[in-house]
Amino acid sequence: MAFTPLFGHQMLYGADYNPEQWLDMPEVLDADVKMMQQARCNIMSVGIFSWAKLEPEEGVFDFSWLDATLDRLNAHGIKVFLATPSGARPAWLAQKYPEVLRVNEQGQRALFGGRHNHCMTSPVYREKVKIINQKLAERYGKHPAVIGWHLSNEYGGSCHCPLCQEKFRQYLKDKYQTLENLNARWWNTFWSHTITDWSQIHSPSVLGEKAVHALNLDWQRFTSDNALDFCKWERDCVKAITPDLPVTANFMEFFLDYDYFQWAKELDFISWDSYPQWHVFKDPDYIASYTAMNHDLMRSLKGGQPWVLMESTPSCTNWRELSTLKRPGMNTLASLQAVAHGADSVQFFQWRKSRGSSEKFHGAIIDHVGHLDTRVGREACDLGLKLSKLGEICGSEVKAEVALVFDTQNRWAIDDAQGPRNKGMNYLEHCLDYYRAFYKCGIAVDVIDETCDLSKYKVVVAPLTYMLREGYAERVKNFVAQGGTYVSTCWSGIVDDTDLCFLGGFPGPLREVMGIWEEEIDSLEDGIEVYAKMEPKGAELCFNSVEPSDIFKGHELCGLVHPDAGTEVLVSYDVDQPQSYSPIFYAGMPVLTRHAYGQGKAYYVASRMDRAFYDNLVQLLIADHELHNGCGQKAYRLAEGLSVTARLSDNYRYVFIGNYASYEQSLGLNFAYEDMLNEDEQGNKLAVSGAITLKPFEMRVLRRPINS
Ligand code: GLA
Ligand code: ZN
Repeated sequence: MAFTPLFGHQMLYGADYNPEQWLDMPEVLDADVKMMQQARCNIMSVGIFSWAKLEPEEGVFDFSWLDATLDRLNAHGIKVFLATPSGARPAWLAQKYPEVLRVNEQGQRALFGGRHNHCMTSPVYREKVKIINQKLAERYGKHPAVIGWHLSNEYGGSCHCPLCQEKFRQYLKDKYQTLENLNARWWNTFWSHTITDWSQIHSPSVLGEKAVHALNLDWQRFTSDNALDFCKWERDCVKAITPDLPVTANFMEFFLDYDYFQWAKELDFISWDSYPQWHVFKDPDYIASYTAMNHDLMRSLKGGQPWVLMESTPSCTNWRELSTLKRPGMNTLASLQAVAHGADSVQFFQWRKSRGSSEKFHGAIIDHVGHLDTRVGREACDLGLKLSKLGEICGSEVKAEVALVFDTQNRWAIDDAQGPRNKGMNYLEHCLDYYRAFYKCGIAVDVIDETCDLSKYKVVVAPLTYMLREGYAERVKNFVAQGGTYVSTCWSGIVDDTDLCFLGGFPGPLREVMGIWEEEIDSLEDGIEVYAKMEPKGAELCFNSVEPSDIFKGHELCGLVHPDAGTEVLVSYDVDQPQSYSPIFYAGMPVLTRHAYGQGKAYYVASRMDRAFYDNLVQLLIADHELHNGCGQKAYRLAEGLSVTARLSDNYRYVFIGNYASYEQSLGLNFAYEDMLNEDEQGNKLAVSGAITLKPFEMRVLRRPINS
């Protein structure tokens, strides 16, 4: 079943809009709305950093420019996500109330400046935010242009001020109840770190404590929860007055600071800011699959609900080492990629380039030249036309048979643990290896965390689940017992959620279902590879079907495991390879095992393997489970640079075929489709079947009836 579209059957198309920077040039403001119409924009995010213009002095408000802005946008048929301005504060506020300024882990309080740097605990900041948020809600809650709240901007970071310290202590009291319990769960006897009074607890700091990993983990959880508490405060301020306006907060790329699965519960819809490094890597599938995985994570945060691409750049960023331009076609391709993965909007940062300050060279739809007749402007207009044809896709769903577990709290714990590979555990990259192998077969993947329901999937892949959060092992057991296929790797089932190691053999509570014991883990220098060879059982399963070869390679981490009786070994470490100064003494031990458990199967992969290995593993899973690609046929591996994705409504399958390569490519279609973006001479959707050819950086959007 498809979802109810968030904002009706029309793709939202627009940008961050900062007219407050141009108030002394009214001709610019008039030109803006005309050009927005010309580009077919229908949404603008307004007011994101406007606090100083809205409240120039404490308690003195000026809404005249925002009144005029919203009216002008409305008159031109453009809707608005209205922002609360808490992402950057006025100078008077910082000067009068220093407690709103963040304190770093060394105890230094920030000076005024920058943005995204307020204390989330400060009662003064909360009070001032409440006042301005309420005024905005009262004044604009019923404005016909306003369709939702954009809470603050890119919440992030932490504060170590005395107010935050006190709140952290309270958080720990609530969690552990007694110091005895806290000391035990944190293993504080180590190095005489026993706490005898709550007031002795301080946030992790280079000047003090960083060695107690459970403290670090709880601090991460606290900062995520405390920022979320602030976000909820903002939300509640506006919801009290505008209960029906949906709220969002714009999220960021594989963001490490906060646990977005917890955040997602408190927001009405998900939005995020996507700035992929297109054209920087030689391999065309790398950044495409990386971005696809991030889009899939955003979709999975709220159980598949369509989401909003809140920001992206129409040409380049200006905060990376290189401000590489998107090549012709890439902006359209990248925008439609978001739609293919579940977005019901495409928005940019920003509408018009600033004239001064740090973002004046960041890509925007309108450049300093001031009109749309530019390479970027023309492509933006064309994209507007394309999106205007895709309204019926809004609300349709991406249906995934496969889930990848990528858990932020696990990531915190893996990164913080000393050993086995302090120079880089590469958790995200390890997950991406698996994601990419499915993506390259056009198989939809949900990106979930350890708290999510597993039962709706055929296959769940969970690399490096070092930390097992409460209840997760149970869910895995039930999932496999009931017929699911679970893929796990080395360095899984090592600690509980306060970072205490499981006793009695790894992977701890997952031992029974995995049918193995991981006795040790070896860590390899970058560039060192271990060889792996097929065992008869693996060959029997055609494990080397993609690129016939007996040899696979592993790197970074090598688990040394013993299979239980009844666990099949499909691939094992091979005899020593040239790097004999570092002998692979574990030749013959398993690299890939399979264990039947209940109705299902559990696979274990001992190392971070090469691409050929993952491609083969996915072939095995396709054969086992009849996994489908976006076209709705049995999945197979696509040529380099190609992608196939689908969204399903009650009536249609919408297929998105993308070419991320800089050369033309073709793909054969097994079904007859209608082209959503191109019409025949009579103005009907063009009929498409057989082989289609895609230009460099082109995305085709096709549909066929769901039951055809
Ligand atoms: C972020 C912010 C925007 C802008 C862009 C530039 O996403 O939310 O305000 O600074 O980065 O890429
Ligand atoms: Zn603080």
